[in-house]
Amino acid sequence: MAQEVRGVIAPGRNQPVRIDTVLVPDPGPGEAVVAIQACGVCHTDLHYREGGITDEFPFLLGHEAAGVVESVGEGVTDVAPGDFVILNWRAVCGRCRACRRGRPWYCFDTRNAGQKMTLTDGTVLAPALGIGAFAEKTLVAAGQCTKVDPAVSPQAAGLLGCGVMAGIGAALNTGDVGRGDTVAVIGCGGVGDAAIAGARLAGAAKIIAVDIDDRKLATARTMGATHTVDSRTADPVEAIRELTDGFGADVVIEAVGRPETYKQAFYARDLAGTVVLVGVPTPDMTLELPLLDVFGRGGALKSSWYGDCLPSRDFPMLVDLHLQGRLDLDRFVSETIALDEVEKAFERMQRGDVLRSVVVL
Ligand code: APR
Ligand code: ZN
Ligand code: ZN
Repeated sequence: MAQEVRGVIAPGRNQPVRIDTVLVPDPGPGEAVVAIQACGVCHTDLHYREGGITDEFPFLLGHEAAGVVESVGEGVTDVAPGDFVILNWRAVCGRCRACRRGRPWYCFDTRNAGQKMTLTDGTVLAPALGIGAFAEKTLVAAGQCTKVDPAVSPQAAGLLGCGVMAGIGAALNTGDVGRGDTVAVIGCGGVGDAAIAGARLAGAAKIIAVDIDDRKLATARTMGATHTVDSRTADPVEAIRELTDGFGADVVIEAVGRPETYKQAFYARDLAGTVVLVGVPTPDMTLELPLLDVFGRGGALKSSWYGDCLPSRDFPMLVDLHLQGRLDLDRFVSETIALDEVEKAFERMQRGDVLRSVVVL
């Protein structure tokens, strides 16, 4: 028997979101129904609503979520009803070439629920990133659920499902920041700030935050930045070099997703350093670089997918570090809101007023 729940629907390109009744089927084999407790508002939800990701309207938005497993389908053994879980949007298969080569974050056969959630008139909903968690309950593949210590608040935990994991993972997993490293982070929104928190966790000696907004630079300091650079008034490449004895940073993390900041990241790293690209560009963007610079500046240029995370390894670990007081996830929650306030939260996000608004159910 399908259950009726309230969910946030994006009905069509650039139309405001609305609350509607969603039918959530009972979980089939390999599936789970999760009662959502908190779900962060992410840029990707707005991109869905703008029609920038696919055209398969209507969408059920929301994908940075934590909640309690309500029921599981046949064959599900990793999670059980009552488990407190964080949802992930890349449940890896464990069998494809990427998985077998030990790089499961590149898995090209990720798992989602097989059944569809619908509106009451039978219209099939496309859940954002295969999750759809701006809803009282949602249907996912059981592999999208990772059990974590329920002592953490749902609003803090949910953030690990997307943006905060992307940033922390960019530093810890992709950049492999080590004790004593110098790290520069270009773009200090939720993702960049999480990269700063990750660099601090890894024991970086210097963490240089770069942004064009004073409010963001002030927050970056509270996350662990030791230096800040306002790139409206200073050349960030020069500034980072000066702060690193002329060498450039060991790890430069780009968390904007624009050609000019990609270029700054490329030139701001130490010759043997690593550039981590976590900001997502749009399809029209290109970057021209002198080949001699590409050749001459060794090091590594890496993009970071979802923080190159393994949810089953990283989500419980980061929750534990948070509970031990070594990673302050609450700092990322600017406000908690109700399900019907998502459209307003998009506006605040676009103005740069918030790091994360989190829907609490
Ligand atoms: N130089 C430095 N910082 C900049 C610049 C620039 N030229 N342009 C924008 N910024 C800053 C903004 O002021 C803001 O603080 O980049 C930050 C971007 O943050 P958000 O808009 O909050 O985005 P966030 O959620 O952090 O995501 C950043 O990472 O995963 C990707 O898709 C995501 O591309 C996006 C990026
Ligand atoms: Zn997201
Ligand atoms: Zn795989």
